[in-house]
Amino acid sequence: MYSVLKNIVNAALILQCGIASAADISIKITKKYLNFPISQKQNRAPMRLEVGGKLEQSFVIRLSADPEYWTFTDVSAFKGKTIKISYDGDAAGLSKVYQDDKINGQDSIYHEKNRPQYHFTTRRGWINDPNGMIFYEGEYHLFYQHNPYEREWENMSWGHAVSKDMIHWEELAVALHPDKLGTMFSGSAVIDYQNTSGFGNRKTPPMVAAYTVDNPDKEIQCIAYSLDKGRTWAKYSGNPVIDSKAKWNSKDTRDPRVFWYKPGNHWVMVLNERDGHSIYNSNNLKEWTFESHITGFWECPDLFELPIDDDKSKTKWVMYGASNTYMIGSFDGKTFTPEHGKYQYTTGTIYAAQTFTNMPKSDPRRIQIGWGRVQQPDMPFNNMMLLPTELKLKTTKDGPRLFSSPIKETEQLFEKVQEWPTLTPDDANAKLKKFYNSDRFRIKATIKLSYATSAGFNLFTQRILDYDMNFNTINGVLYSPEKLGSMEIIADIFVDRTSIEVFIDGGKYSYSMARLPNPESKEGLHFWGNNTEIKNLEIYSVKSIWR
Ligand code: FRU
Repeated sequence: MYSVLKNIVNAALILQCGIASAADISIKITKKYLNFPISQKQNRAPMRLEVGGKLEQSFVIRLSADPEYWTFTDVSAFKGKTIKISYDGDAAGLSKVYQDDKINGQDSIYHEKNRPQYHFTTRRGWINDPNGMIFYEGEYHLFYQHNPYEREWENMSWGHAVSKDMIHWEELAVALHPDKLGTMFSGSAVIDYQNTSGFGNRKTPPMVAAYTVDNPDKEIQCIAYSLDKGRTWAKYSGNPVIDSKAKWNSKDTRDPRVFWYKPGNHWVMVLNERDGHSIYNSNNLKEWTFESHITGFWECPDLFELPIDDDKSKTKWVMYGASNTYMIGSFDGKTFTPEHGKYQYTTGTIYAAQTFTNMPKSDPRRIQIGWGRVQQPDMPFNNMMLLPTELKLKTTKDGPRLFSSPIKETEQLFEKVQEWPTLTPDDANAKLKKFYNSDRFRIKATIKLSYATSAGFNLFTQRILDYDMNFNTINGVLYSPEKLGSMEIIADIFVDRTSIEVFIDGGKYSYSMARLPNPESKEGLHFWGNNTEIKNLEIYSVKSIWR
């Protein structure tokens, strides 16, 4: 299927310590990709890619002559030049590396058996946190923590995908590769319209990424810029811009979240440092001044202003951490002052969510994408992004709270197949029989309790919903419906090949889990609960986002 380009492994195989060997090959680049044969059974070993004597990439990889799957790197930037690949691991694996205009296995990408069909996943490799989420000139950019070279965490880089609707994504080349300072950890992106950094000009304002570099000694904050809408990046020669290890006596200083604070005409960075989120200010994205610190958060900060109940004259700020916990309060550009919190509106596989910045004036929605920590069994990729959701602050009986529900753009994916007004659980289960074996669907229902104190919904015995009115819990998490004494909850359930997301009562609470059906079970879709009513049951088919 692919043309194996004969690579000549240098005759001199240098034996190191009797275990690993070092070898190199040189390839004149005429094609787009280098394809790498990978086996998880193989140990990781360092590889270096050099062009014209310059080190372009260095990472660890599990090359094998008997690959389980293939990964790749885009080398189109080096066309016509010779790339030297040196590898300290298995020389037989190295000899299988080849260039091609196709990724090995390209024709099956996005159609593999366990490929989520309406959630973003990467073609190959590992992903975790969303990074640098920004809208610019008609495109949404999703960067993400990425190991391009295998399905487990390592070699942290910034992967990159773009979309016009946050639903259909096109993956581009890796934006930021590890460098001599370390690996590329999480961060954010801004458009520097006034060219305060001097990286561009007012006509072509730079897109500036702020990210953490991680190395065995410390975590430092760095910046890079792009003048071509995120396609190619240059790292700032004065990096790092913040090195705060000594101040905090801690290695945990990471995940810069940068935005322009209009009232003060300056940049703000929220940075997780040791035990909470710090605020820094800057006029040029290069020099930063520490302003304040709030304890009680860990990793991946976000900070944004939202109207309460859509009333733009009543706004509050939300300070956010990787575990989806948040505080509501005020912010003056230097200090966040909490008034309420901490609260949590979503649980489960979600972690390290981020929101889009630079949304158009005509569409100021605050849209979040979270990392779905969902294993993708036997696939050449791992994890996923959850559905993009709109965050809103709404007044509840307990005060203002964050609500999160799938963005309106997701509607294009769903087609209502059938609906029923009121059913008993047994009737509902009988009606749903024909949908048992769909790889993906959406199901929405109002569940009304009467005699029972708990009721819920299973999928092949996997418990997807367990609402307990006595303990006031959903799947063990404290939950009380808005209408006190209400016997009803609405569940909107999104099932994909490997994941399940559930939004309760319009996004007041949501959660996600891996889809782990019991293969022995005949139960199928199953509502349970004594004398429960299933009202407004709707079932939808779901389109694939992959063309
Ligand atoms: C959160 C996190 C971040 C870090 C990144 C590394 O999942 O630990 O704090 O920047 O992942 O991949």
